[in-house]
Amino acid sequence: MPFKNLKHQATTIFANDKATAKERMAQICELLRDGVGYYDWVGFYFANHDTKTLHLGPYVGEETDHTVIPFGKGICGQVAVSNNNFVVPDVKIQDNYIACSMTVKAEIVVPIFKDGVNVGQIDIDSNTIDPFSPKDEEFLEWICEQVAMIM
Ligand code: SME
Repeated sequence: MPFKNLKHQATTIFANDKATAKERMAQICELLRDGVGYYDWVGFYFANHDTKTLHLGPYVGEETDHTVIPFGKGICGQVAVSNNNFVVPDVKIQDNYIACSMTVKAEIVVPIFKDGVNVGQIDIDSNTIDPFSPKDEEFLEWICEQVAMIM
């Protein structure tokens, strides 16, 4: 599904204030996983700045053991520190990577900023090698802006 259509559907989900923020985030995970063929695992992590750890929030896809990730560790932990998008076209050539599943070939992580603070991120795993383009980044940055607004 083109990102334009997904934005339209996501807008409806975000605007539904009868659902909790967590419920809406879970629906966003489903929308993205179902709408983009190469998004196989979609989830959110949220930062605890006191303990310097990321905590798994709503997600869809295979269950993961990595429900808590220290800042700096793995792709997610690096984004907690760098405040930048991290696009990994091929996870095999990353040293600082936490494998969740043997089927994952690529990953993209985009931070969520609330009032200028990096409060979490969206994390997407793909079973396709090198699937992400700047259009994914632009779309996911938009998703993260909307998430910040309902947090
Ligand atoms: N691969 C991630 C860990 C999270 S799982 O993809 C769900 C990382 O290296 O940070």
